[in-house]
Amino acid sequence: MIDIKNLYVSIKENDILHGVNLKIHQGKIIALMGPNGSGKSTLSHVLMGHPDYKIEKGEILFDKKNLLSWPVHKRARQGLFLAFQYPYEIPGVSVWQFLQSSLQAIEGNKFSQANFVKRLQTIMKDLHFSENFLDRGLNEGFSGGEKKRMEILQMRLLQPKIAILDETDSGLDIDALKLVAANVRKMVGSKLGVLVITHYQRLLSYLQPDEVHVMYQGKIVKSGGRELVKQLERNGYSWIKPQNA
Ligand SMILES: Nc1ncnc2c1ncn2[C@@H]1O[C@H](COP(=O)(O)OP(=O)(O)O)[C@@H](O)[C@H]1O
Ligand SMILES: [Mg+2]
Repeated sequence: MIDIKNLYVSIKENDILHGVNLKIHQGKIIALMGPNGSGKSTLSHVLMGHPDYKIEKGEILFDKKNLLSWPVHKRARQGLFLAFQYPYEIPGVSVWQFLQSSLQAIEGNKFSQANFVKRLQTIMKDLHFSENFLDRGLNEGFSGGEKKRMEILQMRLLQPKIAILDETDSGLDIDALKLVAANVRKMVGSKLGVLVITHYQRLLSYLQPDEVHVMYQGKIVKSGGRELVKQLERNGYSWIKPQNA
């Protein structure tokens, strides 16, 4: 479980997060919503260990251990997976090389080439990737849907305990959304915990989150169940204000 406690974060002297409390349990889907600029991606960058963000106060525990003291590669090895709002392209590094070195980094000397190939084949079939993708540059010239499926492929291959999905749902057609949702749900069934950051009801209606939280000006100002998604879709964010503002 990830336990975010009273987290205050700044970047370049600007205070962005003001006391965030949030738990991400294994086997659950937690949705984080909120207007642009409220601090959602800041939270995912902090979880990832992005060096520009400064922790002013508070802590993040991963299975009761101090996540914030770990370098990025250790976070991944301990089972944290981060998918990015704008998945980057790495021309010159093939999908195959990238996936193999990601898995090697996590499994260390338990890594088996034969096992990697076997698992990769199964997952690629499930995600409707043809084998010629393996030789292409990572995300190079991929469509929005293909990038997203590549992210899900990585997640299935690496089998994290907790995944943070910072979404732009745009660029995803309904079939891709359904495929992403089905794969995430399947992994949640085998104990993955997910924090999904999204604006839109569309993805959430397939994902069926267990909890919904709304961030506004660097704070969680509203928490509830799925009904909250509908409410936000109908009324926007203007009715949400921090209690003490
Ligand atoms: N590198 C940066 N320098 C200064 N301000 C930043 C930087 N990155 C983000 N911010 C500010 O932090 C706030 C929260 O941004 P962000 O976490 O991206 O919000 P969200 O993902 O909810 O749209 C915004 O006001 C944004 O301008
Ligand atoms: Mg964002």
